[in-house]
Amino acid sequence: MIRLIPFAPGDIPRLVGWIPDATALMLWAGPRYAWPLTEAQIERERTRADANPDALRMYVARDENNQPVGHIEIGDVDRIHGLAHLQRIMVAPTAHGRGIGRTMVEQTLRICFDELKSHRVELVALENNSRAIATYAKLGFVREGLAPEARLMPDGTRVGRVYMGLLARDWRARNTA
Ligand SMILES: CC(C)(COP(=O)(O)OP(=O)(O)OC[C@H]1O[C@@H](n2cnc3c(N)ncnc32)[C@H](O)[C@@H]1OP(=O)(O)O)[C@@H](O)C(=O)NCCC(=O)NCCS
Repeated sequence: MIRLIPFAPGDIPRLVGWIPDATALMLWAGPRYAWPLTEAQIERERTRADANPDALRMYVARDENNQPVGHIEIGDVDRIHGLAHLQRIMVAPTAHGRGIGRTMVEQTLRICFDELKSHRVELVALENNSRAIATYAKLGFVREGLAPEARLMPDGTRVGRVYMGLLARDWRARNTA
C-alpha cells in the first residue's frame, strides 16, 4: 500500500540524495532546478507550495512500512478551466520496477479528479524517458504532441518533450469498467 503524505522540510535531504547527476535532474525536473541540486533550491519550491497550494502541491509516497519510496507533485491547478499538471515524479532509485510509480500516479490522479475536480490532467516527459512514458500510458494518458529537440541535455544532445493528457471522463470510464 502506498500513501501520499504532504512533503515536509525533513524530506528535503533524502530527495536531494535521490538525484545522482545532472542528467537525472533534467529527466526528473527539467530546467527548474540547477545542478548541483541543493536543499535550498527544494526549500524555495516547498515555500512556494506552502504559500499557494494551487500553484504547487508536493507529496512523499510512503510504503506499507512507512518508508519513503517516491515523490510527486501537482502544479498549476486552474480551477476555472479544470486543469492540473503532474510533475517531478520520482520513485526512489532502490524501489524502481515494483509498480510504485504507477500506484503513486494513480493516487495523485484521484486527488486531481475527485478532490480538485479537474477536467483534464496534463504532464510532460522527455522523449527518451520510455519507462516514464510507458507508466503514464498504462494509466490512460494519451500522447498529444511532441516538441522536437526542446531540451538541451547536460551531454550536449537535444531531446524532445512529449505532451500527455488524460480527461476526467476517460479516467472514470477506465475505473468503472
Ligand atoms: C518513471 C518512474 C517514476 C516509474 O516508476 P517505477 O516504479 O519504476 O515504474 P513501475 O514499476 O510503476 O512501472 C514501470 C512500467 O514501465 C515498464 N518499463 C520499464 N522500463 C521500460 C522501458 N525502458 N521502456 C518501456 N517500458 C518500460 C515496466 O515494465 C512497467 O510496466 P508493467 O507495470 O506493465 O510491468 C521511475 O522509473 C523514476 O523515478 N524514474 C526517474 C525519474 C523520472 O524519470 N521521472 C519521470 C519524469 S517525467
